[in-house]
Amino acid sequence: MTSLTSKEIRLKNRPQGLPAKSDFELAEVTLPAINDGEILVQNVYMSVDPYMRGRMYDRKSYVPPFQIGQPLEGGGVGRVVESKNEGFNVGDYVLSMLGWREYFVSGGDGLTKIDPALAPVQAYLGALGMTGMTAYVGLLHIGELKEGQTVFVSAAAGAVGSMVCQIAKLKGCYVVGSAGSDEKVAWLVEEAGIDAAFNYKATDDVIAEVGRHFPKGIDVYFENVGGVHLEAALEHMNANGRIVMCGMISMYNDVKPVPGPVRMPYIIQKKLTVKGFIVMDHFDKLGPFFGDMGKWVAEGKIKWQETIIDGIENAPEAFIGLFKGENLGKMIVKVGPGPG
Ligand SMILES: NC(=O)c1ccc[n+]([C@@H]2O[C@H](COP(=O)([O-])OP(=O)(O)OC[C@H]3O[C@@H](n4cnc5c(N)ncnc54)[C@H](OP(=O)(O)O)[C@@H]3O)[C@@H](O)[C@H]2O)c1
Repeated sequence: MTSLTSKEIRLKNRPQGLPAKSDFELAEVTLPAINDGEILVQNVYMSVDPYMRGRMYDRKSYVPPFQIGQPLEGGGVGRVVESKNEGFNVGDYVLSMLGWREYFVSGGDGLTKIDPALAPVQAYLGALGMTGMTAYVGLLHIGELKEGQTVFVSAAAGAVGSMVCQIAKLKGCYVVGSAGSDEKVAWLVEEAGIDAAFNYKATDDVIAEVGRHFPKGIDVYFENVGGVHLEAALEHMNANGRIVMCGMISMYNDVKPVPGPVRMPYIIQKKLTVKGFIVMDHFDKLGPFFGDMGKWVAEGKIKWQETIIDGIENAPEAFIGLFKGENLGKMIVKVGPGPG
């Protein structure tokens, strides 16, 4: 194949507060012809994830910051369109961390082949991918969930939250979720089958609302949001309860640190375990995750939603939409032709 051009999204400015479209730029690069041992991959879907906001700050963290003028990185599912590597055939689907671009050339390192016969390929960015794994590890290993417990989940209709809710139901728990619209609440109760859900934007007292749903208190709180949701959980946690610190999206765009939470003394009085985790430290649990999740999906016991935005040029808006609650389930961008 002769050289081809590929569009990519680069970071233009480090966002201040909520990212703006002007913090990103669409660029075009010319890719060289592939050499022996290489493959050319055309991305079909890419993932936008809240953690990417953290990489837009110039600070030390568990992943290096994105660099100005460089293409962004993130999960992507692509199709091999040319191969000079005997490990990959044209037509194979691969999972990579090279989303945010149309095409890339690779020697194969860091790529995982996925089976499009098992599930729609974009599911490997959600239920069968990083967000599903986050829910599984967070709830079962960090949260040490036990059958019959009471579980509160924030951002419950999102990619991670919707998996947490359903795994907890499969474990025989009483599950209540918080979400930002009536449509999300209806999906959680009617489709995902949890016990109750409420629209936190439609109540002026989230703490009282959580209390109404947990007359017997909360055993496990799965934290995706922070702020008043964490206050509400602390208020209603049972003694010896566990708080799984997965994410705090309400704070990711804060320009100045916000004080709080004010209910920290409950951690002592109620002898709570509050534990953070990063999914990438738990790849040793990939086997059990694929075993359990694959089985639940095949049995129709796990449902998921996707919000699919078309076109790589709209990826920044899809990303920004995460902070406005524009997604039900996993937010995904369709980048190129492929199944689904
Ligand atoms: N620890 C880890 O390894 C790990 C891995 C993956 C994800 N995470 C974290 O898990 C959380 C969920 O991630 P995800 O990929 O599943 O995203 P997601 O829940 O699919 O999307 C983000 C959702 O957060 C909610 N939200 C946004 N701003 C909010 C605010 N100010 N207050 C309350 N809710 C707000 C919105 O839903 P509403 O309409 O309900 O507001 C939005 O749809 C994030 O905090 C993320 O950083 C952690």
